[in-house]
Amino acid sequence: MLLKNKVALITGAGSGMGKAQAVEYSNEGAKVILADINLEGAEKTAQQLRDNGGEAVAVKGNVAKKAEAEDMVNKGLEHFGHIDILSNTAGILDNYKPSLEIEEDEWDQIMGVNLKGAYLMTNAVLPQMIEKGKGTVINFASIAGFVAGGGGAVYTPTKHGIIGYTKQLSFDYGKKGIKANAICPGAVETAMTKEIFEENEAIQDLLSDTPAGRAAKPEEIAYLSVFLASDKSDFIHGAPIKIDGGWTVK
Ligand SMILES: NC(=O)c1ccc[n+]([C@@H]2O[C@H](COP(=O)([O-])OP(=O)(O)OC[C@H]3O[C@@H](n4cnc5c(N)ncnc54)[C@H](O)[C@@H]3O)[C@@H](O)[C@H]2O)c1
Repeated sequence: MLLKNKVALITGAGSGMGKAQAVEYSNEGAKVILADINLEGAEKTAQQLRDNGGEAVAVKGNVAKKAEAEDMVNKGLEHFGHIDILSNTAGILDNYKPSLEIEEDEWDQIMGVNLKGAYLMTNAVLPQMIEKGKGTVINFASIAGFVAGGGGAVYTPTKHGIIGYTKQLSFDYGKKGIKANAICPGAVETAMTKEIFEENEAIQDLLSDTPAGRAAKPEEIAYLSVFLASDKSDFIHGAPIKIDGGWTVK
């Protein structure tokens, strides 16, 4: 049990990789706070974890709103007393739009969820982590944090930005016991990508051309997250870790 007695808050836990992390964290003994704007999805998974003997609670909120981010963290703290691990997984896509097709409000919304949301959630959990002298932050970036084409003209900068934010968190708080890292998936089969993978032949060709030859299952990303959340990875700081089936080898 890699996460025994640890408490984890996972945003975006109602679907995809957030949900998969909640399941794998719970399998490894963690108590899990499932945070999502979609309470129904988070509650369904929380119930599944409780039915399997785990400890889990679902909380609703928008990570891009300071008061709601703080409220989710406070509810988690009321429930479990402390938070050891924060996984900033919530994110939204821009449907690969080029700059001229992105309206200002869409830019603000995607920046708000993917980048500002991670900052707001992190600031809400950090003080009690620093007080304890230990804590882990995992931020969801993407291969779009390295190259163009994994998203559009606002998604790609949010993922480049989240890698920078992760490095700065390590730089500023590493010596206070905070371990921050970024997971950078390639293509993963989730609600975010389902239609794109089914309908877009160019993406299917691109995927079959990668070394892995396919998209990842959400749990394959969750296994990396478990390792980064555990004490086994305590020498890894500020690292953007690609888990992309080799998409970016060339
Ligand atoms: N699926 C992929 O191929 C892929 C690849 C690389 C990176 N990513 C990144 O991984 C993360 C998870 O993606 P996924 O594919 O599991 O997505 P998903 O769409 O399956 O799940 C995202 C979850 O986030 C929640 N959410 C959205 N906006 C929110 C908000 N403002 N506040 C709180 N919750 C909110 C949604 O309700 C949903 O439950 C995202 O950051 C995404 O950018 C995904």
